[in-house]
Amino acid sequence: MKFSDLTRDPISSLPVYQPGKPIELLAREKGIPFNSIIKLASNENPLGSPAGAIKAVRESAANMALYPENSGHDLVQALCVKNGFEPNQLTLGAGSNEIFYLLCDLFADADTQVVVGEYAFISYRISAMLAGAQVVPAAMPGMRHDLDAILDAITEQTRLVFLPNPNNPTGTALPVADIDRFARQLPEWVVFCYDEAYAEYEDQSLDVQGLIRDGVKIIATRTFSKIYGLAGLRIGYGFSDPALAGLLNSVRPPFNTSTVAQAAAIAALKDDAWVARSRRVNSLGREQLREGFEGLGLSSFGEQGNFVLFSLENAEQIFHSLQEMDVIVRSLAGYGLKDYLRVTIGTEEQNERLLEALGRLLK
Ligand SMILES: Cc1ncc(COP(=O)(O)O)c(C=O)c1O
Repeated sequence: MKFSDLTRDPISSLPVYQPGKPIELLAREKGIPFNSIIKLASNENPLGSPAGAIKAVRESAANMALYPENSGHDLVQALCVKNGFEPNQLTLGAGSNEIFYLLCDLFADADTQVVVGEYAFISYRISAMLAGAQVVPAAMPGMRHDLDAILDAITEQTRLVFLPNPNNPTGTALPVADIDRFARQLPEWVVFCYDEAYAEYEDQSLDVQGLIRDGVKIIATRTFSKIYGLAGLRIGYGFSDPALAGLLNSVRPPFNTSTVAQAAAIAALKDDAWVARSRRVNSLGREQLREGFEGLGLSSFGEQGNFVLFSLENAEQIFHSLQEMDVIVRSLAGYGLKDYLRVTIGTEEQNERLLEALGRLLK
């Protein structure tokens, strides 16, 4: 009997999360230096990490023989000061991804359903399936979430709805007024996870605290992996009604966020200039890519976040050819979007290199 015969039911049919190809792997495969490759595949911050966060990591490394502070007290306080949360509203996760898993641990099992948009970020689907729940996909016409389709998909068995705004990988976003209205229509047996991974890039934000105050069962999730440039440290959080945060913290693995990650996140939160610079580079880069794609005769999509999509018939082939030219982008074949590639908006130089490489391939 094989190990795979012994796993519980949903495991063998679980989709596997396919991350962007790591630079280290491509460098190893090709025997070329790490810094000769550009990776625009995982929506990381192309500027790197804030200097204060790097310094905090170095300093906190002196304490790494000790377990982390399990409650993340200082980071929780810093988040409260910055955002006006109460400490008992917060759950820290090893990336916001862990919060999705914790939510499914709490609310999803074989008798329940979890509703997600058909092209929504894949992690929701994986965490729901891992918990044994039935995933109910809601149609996304034009690759955009359709809130009525989500409401129609809800049944008495639904326990969770996940909605990212903007959505990754499609880059589409909805007005927050629509989401506010939607959240208030959800039945009381449904927990709404509103994923704000790209919040700091956006001008609009949903009044999550107002919804919580009005009794809506919502949790918003955020991450330090995107604008704050700490993806490698795995740190994110959810904020919700204290009753939900209490439950999440009761199933959270002990010491799930590291000492260095907590310290770096505190330092990153203080650096408003970093956020402003990252936003500026991102919006200039978006324009540069949009014009560049247009010049190459390619349609591009995505209005928010730090990434864009472009479409072409032989996307999979171009994806591999770009890799041969040391440019890593993201294939969306796993999402059923086989005619699209997703690229993270890079620095001016990185964007230029991508466009140049694409230009040569499309000639
Ligand atoms: C919409 C969305 N949510 C969550 C995440 C995961 O972020 P984290 O690194 O915090 O787990 C991503 C990462 O790409 C994302 O695009």
